[in-house]
Amino acid sequence: MVERFLEGRGALITGGASGFGRGTAYAFAERGADVVIIDINEELLEETAKKVTNKTGQKIIPIVCDVSKSVQVEAMVKQTYQELENVYVLFNNAGIGVAYGKTICRLREEQWDRIMSVNLKGQWLVAKSLCRKMKAQKFDNDTLSGRMICNASLAGINLNPKLPAYSITKIGVIALAKLLAMTLAPNITAGIYKDSEDVIKTVLKEANVHIPLNRIGTVEDVVDLVVFLASPASTYITGQCIAVAGGLAK
Ligand SMILES: NC(=O)c1ccc[n+]([C@@H]2O[C@H](COP(=O)([O-])OP(=O)(O)OC[C@H]3O[C@@H](n4cnc5c(N)ncnc54)[C@H](O)[C@@H]3O)[C@@H](O)[C@H]2O)c1
Repeated sequence: MVERFLEGRGALITGGASGFGRGTAYAFAERGADVVIIDINEELLEETAKKVTNKTGQKIIPIVCDVSKSVQVEAMVKQTYQELENVYVLFNNAGIGVAYGKTICRLREEQWDRIMSVNLKGQWLVAKSLCRKMKAQKFDNDTLSGRMICNASLAGINLNPKLPAYSITKIGVIALAKLLAMTLAPNITAGIYKDSEDVIKTVLKEANVHIPLNRIGTVEDVVDLVVFLASPASTYITGQCIAVAGGLAK
């Protein structure tokens, strides 16, 4: 039986149709939250919303939105506040990768632009569109009015020359979250998590690196940290970057 500390609170998850976003939608809903999930993949988004509602009984609202487009993000935030009474927690998670291997000297301009606009600009646009309303919210027995959790990657710390643009976006996400924490204190906390990245197996093999905890991280490993960062147990933690990387982060 999980503690329902998100009862009466709303959550917004970007990239909520699959992966970590979907796992977090289940976890937040199980803790009592009504959840808006946004994604560009409409079919998968609808399917995820139905599955999470059926399993948890919570209101799960799918909204199709490209986080890299400011007009869509503003409309999405407006709709979110029509659907939910509040947004207590944002999981800024939507992200894409690019093909592994192209060095910074061989990367094409359109690849650079696309990944910057989704992974970095997208997180900024969503946080920016949300922060004024989030700051104005009040909750009983809570000194905070909201929580923002940004998804980075181990590639944002251990820079990877074969994932140059991705690494730059993720180091940018870490900076973004720290700046949000400074700007929004004391009302809103901002946390960052980074975990073993998509191409971890290839990277580890190439670099002959061993994960100290001897396994690749799972969706559940990440969701557990995101739930902690949204919970009453972490109200004095802000602007911190926490690695879910089996001991691999430098
Ligand atoms: N999988 C990993 O090993 C790993 C490691 C470190 C960090 N991450 C980060 O975790 C996050 C989620 O990754 P995942 O592994 O769950 O991947 P995923 O592909 O399963 O989920 C990402 C979701 O984001 C959506 N999305 C893509 N572009 C979008 C846009 N412009 N607007 C809205 N939604 C969009 C996708 O449709 C997808 O549903 C990403 O930010 C990724 O960089 C993943």
